[in-house]
Amino acid sequence: MHVTFYSTRRYDERFFNAANEHFGHQLHFYDIALNTHTANFARNQTVGDAPLAVCIFVNDHADAPVLERLAAQRVELLALRSAGFNHVDLDAAQRLGLRVVRVPAYSPHSIAEHTLALVLALNRKTHRAYNRVKENNFSLDGLMGFDLYGLTVGIVGLGKIGVATARIFQGFGCRVLGYDPVQTEADHVEMGSLDTLLRESDIISLHCPLTPETHHLINADTIGQMKHGVMLINTSRGALIHTQAVVDALKREHIGYLGLDVYEEEDGLFFEDQSDKVVQDDVFMRLLTFPNVLITGHQAFFTRNAVEAIAQITLQNISDFEQGQELKNQVTPQ
Ligand code: NAI
Repeated sequence: MHVTFYSTRRYDERFFNAANEHFGHQLHFYDIALNTHTANFARNQTVGDAPLAVCIFVNDHADAPVLERLAAQRVELLALRSAGFNHVDLDAAQRLGLRVVRVPAYSPHSIAEHTLALVLALNRKTHRAYNRVKENNFSLDGLMGFDLYGLTVGIVGLGKIGVATARIFQGFGCRVLGYDPVQTEADHVEMGSLDTLLRESDIISLHCPLTPETHHLINADTIGQMKHGVMLINTSRGALIHTQAVVDALKREHIGYLGLDVYEEEDGLFFEDQSDKVVQDDVFMRLLTFPNVLITGHQAFFTRNAVEAIAQITLQNISDFEQGQELKNQVTPQ
């Protein structure tokens, strides 16, 4: 099947081309993002009249106007090379007869391990120590951390990634609290209310999807319930956090540490080299000024294992569609 890819980078081409040796699809890669202006690229000259698949990533916009343009070009399948699907208007897709598939699990460990990388770096300030030692500055002032052993960690969302993260924290000897409106139990996790988790946790890590209910889950009110000096980690989706409320809490030193792999306005910022540009987002730039904030640019998923699995599962989803098989990874409106 012909597949038009948006927002690809060299590593996407490499891993998808390698996996495609077993599938034999015709892959067309574009580094531009999908939006109303670029949707018409889906059917290029090499594609002919056959039905098409389009493959997108987390910051491609598949809202109703975009989906209408895709459907008008006989795009019949939207293959997300991601687990999250908050960037797709599923009602519009259904109305237009466009099937949507995703990669529900590729390596929960990749995100869980990156979560711990943020926690450990923030705590022991390895990013700052690295720079000091490079300049022959061996002073320890300002580098003091704390033991994770014995601390209470709150995990919001006990799905695949939340459970994998909880397991690592248990290995450090932490008490793990969990909140999830659907999952009522997880091994060695004390499940309870969000209020209890916010009140009792020294470290809070977000692992729930972005939905209308979870949008700005972390806001001035919920921050107000947290312990003074709490460490907050978000490797899930940026808009779970009201960023300005978090900036205010960092200034008051209510939030003691902030680790982000995602940002609510990351679209157009992350996944690009912006080093010779003037970044216009003042909230983001304010975040970068805090010594106790560590931000990575949506790289938690980025391990060899995860990217291999994403390519394999995405191409299998496309083959299943082409062969009229059941689409086990289809996403439909709730
Ligand atoms: P999952 O579907 O296995 O688990 C999500 C859990 O969140 C479910 O148990 C669900 O019941 C729970 N949940 C739903 N609403 C909630 C609420 N209001 N409060 C608390 N929990 C709630 O998903 P998985 O694979 O664990 O992924 C979680 C999220 O991680 C994804 O939705 C995605 O946004 C993010 N992600 C980030 C990546 C990155 O590179 N930074 C890569 C992959 C996923």
